[in-house]
Amino acid sequence: MTSFESRTSDYPIERIFLERWSPRALAGVPMDHETLMTIFEAARWAPSSYNSQPWRYIYAHRDTPAWAGLFNLLVEGNQGWARDASVLIVAISKTTMSPRGEEVPSYSHSFDAGSGWQNLALQATAMGWFAHGMVGFDMARAASELGIPDGYKVESAIALGKLGDKSKLPEHFQKMEQPNDRNPVSSFAFEGRFPAA
Ligand SMILES: Cc1cc2nc3c(=O)[nH]c(=O)nc-3n(C[C@H](O)[C@H](O)[C@H](O)COP(=O)(O)O)c2cc1C
Repeated sequence: MTSFESRTSDYPIERIFLERWSPRALAGVPMDHETLMTIFEAARWAPSSYNSQPWRYIYAHRDTPAWAGLFNLLVEGNQGWARDASVLIVAISKTTMSPRGEEVPSYSHSFDAGSGWQNLALQATAMGWFAHGMVGFDMARAASELGIPDGYKVESAIALGKLGDKSKLPEHFQKMEQPNDRNPVSSFAFEGRFPAA
């Protein structure tokens, strides 16, 4: 088993999987552009069906003109803490691919984009940053206001930041502000076939 702070795995794994978590208390510091590009570079090397690389990202650094366009998409609850993020990202996937020249539907565009997100999150963690996914935002408005064309699916928003002071969070968020636990492997990995209900 492996341990990091309050988290302990049942089987031994790399520590970074336990180190990655999704804090809401962020420090409101800027992230330099090279750091952001390094985090995206990790996403670049994610696996995808036919190497189709369907992930796309729209980003905004805090204190820049692009910031409001992403921040205003977030639901109020997420705005309450993500205002102290360093970078906001909208993750998108391309729903078609062209493995043999002709454009065909991709079965796995969301799965592939998920690999990109996880690479990005682990790279951020390795560099002392945090990545917090968010579905709490207006995806239809994201598509129209960020100029996302047909054939692309808005997948998730992501806040990147440094850990901040949790006493500044609303009380209900303060209580949750620690790495959480997981169901055991036996509850989701089945040999041979899906178990009977
Ligand atoms: C796709 C996705 C969407 C999420 N949406 C939100 C959200 O809208 N607001 C929020 O505060 N947390 C959100 N989360 C964070 C999850 O609640 C969190 O990842 C989960 O509880 C596991 O905790 P951990 O990331 O700290 O290990 C989201 C995470 C993912 C991956």
